[in-house]
Amino acid sequence: MSKLQASAFAAALLAVALPAVAADGPPPTRVAKGHFTMSDGEAIYKNVCAACHMSDAMGAKGAGIYPALANDKRLAGAAYPIRAVVLGQKGMPPFGAYFDDDQVAAVVGYVRTHFGNSYAAPVTAAEVKAQRTSPAGPNDVHGGLPTAG
Ligand code: HEC
Repeated sequence: MSKLQASAFAAALLAVALPAVAADGPPPTRVAKGHFTMSDGEAIYKNVCAACHMSDAMGAKGAGIYPALANDKRLAGAAYPIRAVVLGQKGMPPFGAYFDDDQVAAVVGYVRTHFGNSYAAPVTAAEVKAQRTSPAGPNDVHGGLPTAG
């Protein structure tokens, strides 16, 4: 992807993600320099992830299929949801450029301990950092390129 394409893509991504933010607060306070500013996992979930996965994490079917994150056995290991957030996964855009490692750890930790999921082991920024640069395995469903936070 050229630099120009990449920045157009980034702008489009923010445009997709922002309507959900606008619902309960003015977007400029939540986004600085292309980064989301919330640090709390719950706030990140509500303002970004819930736009597609819904506030109850039950997912939705409409123009696309947004899987439920509630009672999701695929969240048992932290690497899978970390890679989904950072690298994207099919219809889910990569958010790696918009969150730092602590923010990814916070939101992944949040979904792994809510909505019927009880994977209590804390998710660390170091795990996120490692996944950003870890190459895809042969069966990896996660897309995109590793992006710096
Ligand atoms: C623009 C819509 C959109 C947003 C915003 C979004 N996702 Fe997704 N997400 C998807 C779609 C679509 C899939 C299904 C991808 C596929 O087909 O494998 C998905 C898949 C996932 C999966 C894999 C679920 C599974 O069981 O395989 C996880 C985990 C996930 N998303 C977490 C998140 C988190 C955490 C956030 C917030 C940081 C988020 N998503 C934001 C659309 C979105």
